[in-house]
Formats: sequence, C-alpha cells, structure tokens
Amino acid sequence: MDFYVDIKNIETEELKHVDLDRVNVNCSPPVFEPQRQYYFMAKCRQIVKSEGERLGRPLYACIHTFGCQMNARDSEKLSGILHEVGYGTAGEEEADFVIYNTCTVRDNANQRVYGRLGVVNGCKRRNPHIRIALCGCMMQEPSVVEKIKKSYPFVDLVFGTHNIYTFAELLYRCLTAERDAAGHARMVTDIWQETDAVVEDLPAERKYPFKSGINIMYGCNNFCSYCIVPYVRGRERSREPADIVREITELAADGVTEIMLLGQNVNSYGKNLGRPVSFAQLLREVERVEGIRRIRFMTSHPKDLSDELIAVMADSHKICRHLHLPLQSGSTRILQAMNRRYTKEQYLTLAEKIRRAIPDISVTTDIIVGFPGETPADVDETIDVVRRVGFDNAFTFLYSKRTGTPAAAMENQVPEDVAKRGFDKLLQVVQDTARARAAGREGQSAEALVEEVNSHDDRLLTGRLSNNMLVHFPGSPDLIGQYVNVRLETCRGFYYMGQILEK
Ligand code: 5AD
Ligand code: SF4
Repeated sequence: MDFYVDIKNIETEELKHVDLDRVNVNCSPPVFEPQRQYYFMAKCRQIVKSEGERLGRPLYACIHTFGCQMNARDSEKLSGILHEVGYGTAGEEEADFVIYNTCTVRDNANQRVYGRLGVVNGCKRRNPHIRIALCGCMMQEPSVVEKIKKSYPFVDLVFGTHNIYTFAELLYRCLTAERDAAGHARMVTDIWQETDAVVEDLPAERKYPFKSGINIMYGCNNFCSYCIVPYVRGRERSREPADIVREITELAADGVTEIMLLGQNVNSYGKNLGRPVSFAQLLREVERVEGIRRIRFMTSHPKDLSDELIAVMADSHKICRHLHLPLQSGSTRILQAMNRRYTKEQYLTLAEKIRRAIPDISVTTDIIVGFPGETPADVDETIDVVRRVGFDNAFTFLYSKRTGTPAAAMENQVPEDVAKRGFDKLLQVVQDTARARAAGREGQSAEALVEEVNSHDDRLLTGRLSNNMLVHFPGSPDLIGQYVNVRLETCRGFYYMGQILEK
C-alpha cells in the first residue's frame, strides 16, 4: 500500500507537488485545510477519468466570469482545480462542466446570468450529462437561490463566496449527486453566511503566465449605502504579510513579473491583524521580492488613503503609475447620503496631493449617477470634480437599486430618464477629459509589458503601460511576457498606436 500517499501527512507547502493519482482516497477525508481539498481533488480525478473512458474522449470545462478583478482571480482558482481533476478547457457549447462565477453589484449583471442560463439549458437538453454550476456574489442573496431552485432546476451546483475554497469537495458532491427516477441529479446547494477562514495554497491556473492577482484581504466593512458587497463578501479580513510575500515569491519563481494586490479597500489593509500592518508597509515588503517588476493594487478608498502610501508610491520604481480612486459623486450632500465619509473638498485636496507627489501618475475613478435624491445640480458638482482632477479614465454607472442596502429603502429614488440625462452629460465630460489627458502623452516613449496578440489585427501586439493604458504596435508574438520600450505615436482616445524602439 505504500505506493499511496496519505494526504493528511503532507505539509502544506508540498501539496502542490503531490501526484493526485497516488493519493489514498480509500480512507476518511482529512479534517484540515487545504489537505482536505487535495483529497477531494484526487477523488474527483478518478471520476473524471472513468467518465472520460466511458465517453471515449477527454472531458472539458468552461468558466464564465462576471464582475471585478476579485472574481477573475477566484476563477483562476476554480480553473486550477478543474484542470487538476482532469478537465480540459472548452467553450460553453462543448463543455461537460459549465460554471458561472457571478457578480451582483448592479442588477444588469444578474440579468446577464439568467440570460446565459437560458442558453446553457438548451445545451443540457441536448446533452443531459452536462453539469452546470453557479457561484460568486449573486449566490449570497437568498432570493436568487430561491429563484434558481424554482425556475432553473437543471442547475447542478450552487455555492457562494465564503466557501469557494471548498470547491473540490463541492465538485465531488456534485459529480456523485443522487439521481431521481427521471435521471435528473439533485441540485447541490451550499451557501455560508460568513467565514473567518482564509484558505490559500490551492492550485490556480493563471490567465497570463507573466502576471497575477493576489488577494491581500477579503470582504468590506464600509457599508456605502448603495453597495451590496459588504453583504455578499462579508467582513474585512486581511491575510498575514508573510503569507502574501511567500505567495508572491512563488509566483515570481514561476515567471510572474507583474502583480496586482486585490482587496475591496486596500487602504485599510492590516488594521485588524494580530500585529497590525499598514498597506504602505506591506507594499514596502512586496517591493523587495526579486523578479517582480511591476506592482499594482485595487481598490483604494479615498477616506483611508494615507500620506505614507503616497510617499511609498512616489519613491518606488516598481509600483505602477496608476491609482484607481473611486469618487462616486462630487456632491458633498450625496457623498454623505452614500456614507462615503469624505467631502468634495477633501477628495480634491487628496487628488491634488497625489498629483503633486507623483506627477506622471494616471488617476482613474468610478462614478454613480442617479443615487436617490441626486439633482442635476449634484451632477454638475460631479462634473466639476471630473474637470478639476482631470481623470485619465472614469467608469460611470447608473445607480442600480440593490435590495437590502440602505439606499434601496430611500424614498427619493431618481426617475430613470432624469438619471440617464445626468449620465449622458457626465459621460461626455469624462470622455473629453480622458482623451485630452491621453493626447498629452502622444510622442512620448514608455515601457510596455507585452500581453497578447491584438484580437482585431494579428500583426499587432498589445502592451500595457505602467499607467494602465494599452498600446498596440507591430511585433512578433515571442515578445509576449516581455517589457519593451514603445513610442506612443497616436492617441486613439483610450489607447495608443505605437512602434517598438530599438532595445
Ligand atoms: N449601483 C451602481 N453602481 C454601483 N457600484 C457599486 N454599487 C452600485 C450600485 N448599487 C459601483 C461603484 C463601485 C463599482 C465597483 O461599482 O462605483 O466603485
Ligand atoms: Fe462597496 Fe463601498 Fe465597500 Fe467599495 S468600499 S465594496 S463601494 S461598500
């Protein structure tokens, strides 16, 4: 029997090197994480293998991701596990296992998921063995889960944000679910209300070999009055700096040179650790990791952005010249109703301080139009901030009412046509401002990390500048993953056309 590995006895750091085909699965599952998940990966692997033999072909999985960078990173973790258990990658139409990693920040994200479910139901009718899973923020809403159970009974697996680290175990439950007389598998649902666990050290399959997101914290404690995130992602929990640095060191050894530190509000990182650490201190440590050339982070809350952070950014050669600093509104009255805890003037002062300390920085933002009680005069205040800060880009959103948030219960909801008018007026200014900022860099040269072959024209490569803008230029695909100096020849609004400069 000593051909078999007892997963209980494997150290966490060694787990990634274990041959899953050698794991003893004829014993009870380990109690501790992440060993428990590796045990279930081994079990799933056996099932996927025998199913493949039965069908006479490999099995395929498809992950469809909605929403933010956090979800994108979570999907890399789902992908890592699906790959380990033996699934190849395919499109929705050919896949044997389809998973939707959902977002619920605005209602249109929810509607898109229901739309996709309609399509995939058609595939399942043709191929009843297909399994369909749903996870992510939308599943943390009880009304959504009820609707799925009632109207989409063909879904096989539903889980939320807090137990995503148990995916291997959930997949096993799904693959072995009982079937009723008609042959339909019972839906497996497992939604947790909270967790204080931070389980990492599971496989992840990166979309790009040379760059990666890293979760530094989970959840949010801010309760902006329009936002559902604190309800679906739970309370703020920071990872230990040593664990973060270890993960980044491993990524660097694996060829990653650009990292993005992820959290809903990175500026409050580390406040509730046993030994509190500031985000600026974490950045200093991360900067020391050899092999990492670029450091990004998302998202900053203006109320918590410290002078220490500005100083670290100004000093650093690795931290990218980009700051995403959501404004949400330029009207102090609306900001107060949004529970943002800063005023228009405080935001302007902060932006000015940042621009003075780091003159080449690009500042981007998020803005909501149509928040309850917002008047055209409030929108003009927002437009005033856009002009004065000169955002390099701004993501503008129409307010979306999220049940359960304080703003949803406010009486003075703005009629859709009024909100839309304010939105269009703002968008025009946002686009003009961003275009003017980008045009100001025309003719300059800058370093770009080559990310991929351009999706519209395969003679071109697409690279990302430190300030997060994209540049397209002629070049050979073997430059992907490398840093090149590019001349930004013409600005096309939100991107540049360029030429590689001699090395
Ligand atoms: N309606 C519209 N936009 C929202 N956002 C968050 N909640 C809502 C909502 N209810 C926007 C904010 C946030 C971004 C990620 O999504 O601008 O910064
Ligand atoms: Fe939502 Fe505000 Fe938390 Fe951002 S900081 S996730 S907008 S509650």
